[in-house]
Amino acid sequence: FSYPMPVNEPIHSYAPGSAERKALQQTLKELKSQQADIPMYIGGEEVRTGNTVAINPPHERNHVLGHFHMGDESHVQQAIDAALAAKEGWANMSWESRANIFLRAADLISAKYRYHMNGTTMLGQSKNAFQAEIDSACELIDFLRFNVHYLSEIYKQQPISAPGMHNRLEWRPLEGFVLAVTPFNFTAIGGNLPASAALCGNVVVWKPANTQVYSAQMFMKILKEAGLPDGVINLIYVDGPTLGKVSFAHRDFAGVHFTGSTGVFNQMWKTIGENIPNYRSYPRIVGETGGKDFVIAHRSAKAEVVATALLRGAFEYQGQKCSAASRAYIPSNLAADVKRLLVAGVNSFKMGSTEEFGNFINAVIDERSFDKIATYINNAKQDANASILVGGVCDKTEGYFIQPTVIEAKYPKYVTMCEEIFGPVLTIYIYDEHQFEATLELVDTTSPYALTGAVIAQDRYAVELATQKLRNAAGNFYINDKPTGAVVGQQPFGGARASGTNDKAGSALNLYRWLSARTIKETF
Ligand code: SER
Repeated sequence: FSYPMPVNEPIHSYAPGSAERKALQQTLKELKSQQADIPMYIGGEEVRTGNTVAINPPHERNHVLGHFHMGDESHVQQAIDAALAAKEGWANMSWESRANIFLRAADLISAKYRYHMNGTTMLGQSKNAFQAEIDSACELIDFLRFNVHYLSEIYKQQPISAPGMHNRLEWRPLEGFVLAVTPFNFTAIGGNLPASAALCGNVVVWKPANTQVYSAQMFMKILKEAGLPDGVINLIYVDGPTLGKVSFAHRDFAGVHFTGSTGVFNQMWKTIGENIPNYRSYPRIVGETGGKDFVIAHRSAKAEVVATALLRGAFEYQGQKCSAASRAYIPSNLAADVKRLLVAGVNSFKMGSTEEFGNFINAVIDERSFDKIATYINNAKQDANASILVGGVCDKTEGYFIQPTVIEAKYPKYVTMCEEIFGPVLTIYIYDEHQFEATLELVDTTSPYALTGAVIAQDRYAVELATQKLRNAAGNFYINDKPTGAVVGQQPFGGARASGTNDKAGSALNLYRWLSARTIKETF
């Protein structure tokens, strides 16, 4: 079964007055008028505990979209048991059958549930229609289809044989269950982390962030409709320590597919390390974690190109993409123009609810996030080493709104140039235009992360120098573009250093981690 490279799912534009915009608006209205009662899914059963948590749109914090049922240790255990019970049937199913379930899920999102995937993402995670469309529709669909293609290529890989013998590789799934722990900021990552491991024949326990449950459960329902057998993916809502306590102590723990903070990932490694003697096999640990993504402009760059890359790279989805530009190095000759364009750009942004389609900026995800971002901004306001060029207004009366904020740092290692903020805050540092090479060194050493970064230059020597000197500073490196918006099949995504294991989401590299090959030699 060979599955050719698919084409990327076309992006719907939801133009004013279009039928698709009306349909999406209608879905938003329906979702808002419902009170969703959201169960966990364990072994195909809907599980309700009565211990419910309200779901509120971040941009309208007092509206209740519904509730989900929180589980405890016993539910983690039940989910693991259900996964292991499903394992034999799933791992022995022909891979064409497994693949067709995920291909069907992709088609269901594309043609039947697009507005529901986007609607739950827009309301639950405060993404505007475009940001939802490129995530919960296009990227998720792409992950599902491209993974089938990449896996079909992997399965074809076989060793050579010789007269009197036949050698082959059997691409087995891992022995045990895989844990998928997913973040709020991309619905597509939420879908891909459990689905990619399951496609390879693994059984999965999936815990999304509480702030992602609304869209995650929608995807789970689509998987069920697509024919996913009971127990293959079990969706549970528990807190992190409860999940870790039960799953990392389990003999059949086979791996974790994680996207989230560096701190949590480090803690996972530690706990897994302590438990190593108890496991059947060394677990696969795959994680995409933090970032402090950079843009460095060269004096040959055009100020407009720099400003556009920064305005989009730093502020789309309120700067909550792990790839978001959050520190920029601007040469002195461009400083005045870039600053002027950044101020004008931010002042032109409309901010508000995702239900108003003209709003470019929506709310940040929750109160904890709001408070953290606001603290960085308020500290900068009072610090002589920083000045706020534009933005700085933080207001959580209706929802968690933070005005896109540009800080100018007076020295290159000012705190907001170094620490991950995960919000709409961009810090710029103006460097002597003749110190490009020294500034590249600064870019490389200022942060422990290495997820994404960009160089903007017209001078080809500058492009070349940056590409070489920043070889290890970013897993995704962009030349004359913003550092966000990786597309499946086009820019495999991930970074090293404190940003994760760099097992490129949306590529064969990632799928290899969910396979454990057996070499079989037969002599005649
Ligand atoms: N794929 C996203 C981006 O590149 C990040 O996860 O923006």
